[in-house]
Amino acid sequence: MKGLFIVFEGGDGVGKTTQVRHLAEWLREQGQQVLTTHEPGDTAVGLKLRQIVLDPATGDVDPRAEALLLAADKAQHLFEKVNPALASGVTVVCDRYVDSMIAYQGVGRELGAGEIADLARWATAGVVPDLTILMDVEPAQAVHRKTDRDRLEDAGAAFHQRVRRGYLALAEAAPERYLVLHARDELASNVAAVRARVAELMAVRA
Ligand SMILES: Nc1ncnc2c1ncn2[C@@H]1O[C@H](COP(=O)(O)OP(=O)(O)O)[C@@H](O)[C@H]1O
Ligand SMILES: [Mg+2]
Repeated sequence: MKGLFIVFEGGDGVGKTTQVRHLAEWLREQGQQVLTTHEPGDTAVGLKLRQIVLDPATGDVDPRAEALLLAADKAQHLFEKVNPALASGVTVVCDRYVDSMIAYQGVGRELGAGEIADLARWATAGVVPDLTILMDVEPAQAVHRKTDRDRLEDAGAAFHQRVRRGYLALAEAAPERYLVLHARDELASNVAAVRARVAELMAVRA
């Protein structure tokens, strides 16, 4: 039986990596085999692409070029890691996936959510997560005191407002495949909400 594909989405510093860790630990306690991974950059090819996209030294990148670089990362990541794991029954817990492209490049960069969704669908051959957990927060509350911001983190407040709206629109369009959490709620309550929703998914498949 194919493994579950679970994705965490949201802006930087909202707690995605923290939630990935907690969920993976809990799934392993339930006896599941788990692959934790992230996009962009969790393959050798993807790491090079990620460096191009995020390094401030890259300079000006055309938004369409940026979207294509990220799409290439996703294709390679599925090919090398995600698809083989799912095919062998492993649960995949991924930090960011195509919704990041739709929200950041489609809505943030204003390339159009629909067109970027089409590009993402092509790049991923239509592999859709069973569940996406959106860690939502007002961008002003997520602003971290990091000084070494990458190209996307540095894209400005209006950009990050658009990204948030882009994410929320995706969740609203397919509520059966999303769990939206407030990223500033207690860590323990968010961890519990994720477990409850994933447990439901596992029960349906058992
Ligand atoms: N619900 C929460 N409340 C308060 N702090 C949190 C919460 N979730 C995560 N954190 C903290 O916020 C910081 C960023 O979390 P992280 O998981 O690295 O975010 P991301 O991967 O989305 O960038 C970490 O210091 C983490 O411990
Ligand atoms: Mg992280």
